[in-house]
Amino acid sequence: MFWSQEAREKLVDESRFGRLDAEVEAYLLGKPFNDARRGWYVMDLGQIMNLLPNPPARLLDLGIGSGWTSKYLALSGYHVVGLDIAESMIKLAKINCAGVKNIDLHICDYESDIDFGQFDCALIYDALHHATDEARVLKNVYNSLKEGGKLVTAEPGRGHAEYKDTQEVVHDFGVTEKDMEFSLQKRLMQEAGFSEVHQYYRLSEFVLADVSSEHGRTTQINQFANLYAITREAGFTSIVVAIKKISQPSHTSVSLGTKTSVTLGKKKWLEWLFNSVARRKILVFRRKT
Ligand SMILES: C[S@@+](CC[C@H](N)C(=O)[O-])C[C@H]1O[C@@H](n2cnc3c(N)ncnc32)[C@H](O)[C@@H]1O
Repeated sequence: MFWSQEAREKLVDESRFGRLDAEVEAYLLGKPFNDARRGWYVMDLGQIMNLLPNPPARLLDLGIGSGWTSKYLALSGYHVVGLDIAESMIKLAKINCAGVKNIDLHICDYESDIDFGQFDCALIYDALHHATDEARVLKNVYNSLKEGGKLVTAEPGRGHAEYKDTQEVVHDFGVTEKDMEFSLQKRLMQEAGFSEVHQYYRLSEFVLADVSSEHGRTTQINQFANLYAITREAGFTSIVVAIKKISQPSHTSVSLGTKTSVTLGKKKWLEWLFNSVARRKILVFRRKT
């Protein structure tokens, strides 16, 4: 048991998600290890940790639910401020994180003013797509970050809002559900002021094959192609990193050593060229298989 009976009895129905019964609480307090998708969650957290600046760093975690990301990030050495709009979630998160140092949890609407000081980094894990005004959330995060600060998001992509499961949640709990594909996040992040927005394959979506045989190796290459296709072509989920840099305008010349100087525009063009070559290779590969 992660929580006392007394604490459990004090939990009341204050969440807009309705009353939490014991089974739901137990699930939320044991997340991610009691979930059938535990491997996915832990891989996500590992990938996110690799993308965040190293601890110790101040980290703002938004839409934390019962606080599992906040808990394991604080245990890793981050100074975490975790926010959620639902009082019942913050109560659970406090139970979940009892005894963990460097963690502050607050009931807070990420669409209202956020004033918890300046942060080195921020995380929105599976929560931005619940916002009614996601542009406001991203602006709030931007304002809360120090210069050079990083925001990492892990959100569902294109098609999420139409899934039957999603529609049931909307119907049953009245929550907002949206598609949050990379192109939308990128536009909103740039509008919020972020100067760089990067997209990463979500490695938890990468299906592993046994590569000890020729067949397995071919299958594995096929899975790389699938990951490319679901991420870049179908617009499904990915991990997004936005960086706040105010002093460097995005299209000035940057010096790469004493003699070489390229513009960021040219770098982008090279990136495009590389991607289109890679894309053609994958299409050729798919046609062959
Ligand atoms: C799908 S849950 C994800 C929770 C957590 N990140 C996790 O992985 O378990 C989305 C969370 O976002 C929170 N949320 C929704 N709207 C919010 C808002 N306006 N401000 C802050 N949190 C919000 C919900 O209360 C919920 O806990």
